[in-house]
Amino acid sequence: MMPLKRTSGLIWILLITACSERTPDRVTVPGRWYTEAEVESGARLYQAHCAVCHAADGSATPDWRTPDASGNYPPPPLNGTAHTWHHPLAVLDDTIANGGVRFGGVMPGFAEILSGDERLAIIAWFQSLWPDVIYARWQEIDQRSR
Ligand code: HEC
Repeated sequence: MMPLKRTSGLIWILLITACSERTPDRVTVPGRWYTEAEVESGARLYQAHCAVCHAADGSATPDWRTPDASGNYPPPPLNGTAHTWHHPLAVLDDTIANGGVRFGGVMPGFAEILSGDERLAIIAWFQSLWPDVIYARWQEIDQRSR
């Protein structure tokens, strides 16, 4: 009896894991969590909502460590040159949804404007700018946070 029960338990785990994937046949960009379609829609959404502060190519602000006259930090680059890769996916999503005001920052939150999928697509777009070495470091941090 025991071995049989264990096998059926294992099958359940496999089934649950398979069903909790967002779409079973999603084809991701090699080595990355996102699809090409997510990067494309993220690029459009980013230009519409984020480029005004973080620049069209995600490079603003090169001098992101220096606060302005009122003590606010400028928008940091999202293109992999600053420290955005220190944050797990859930934290990046939370920052975009709820902004930085609650931490004394100035970035507005987008929870009312962008759906969860749209926020993820934007993250996919700016991560597509990251070199593999930066992405790999982020992936380790993200895995550890789960
Ligand atoms: C009004 C300007 C402004 C807009 C618009 C804006 N941001 Fe920001 N963003 C900032 C600032 C300034 C910070 C630094 C933290 C703070 O002051 O809140 C920041 C921080 C961030 C961070 C944290 C980065 C890090 O390295 O810790 C992420 C991620 C981010 N923004 C993504 C986005 C995305 C995605 C959008 C569009 C949906 C967006 N931002 C729109 C100004 C903006």
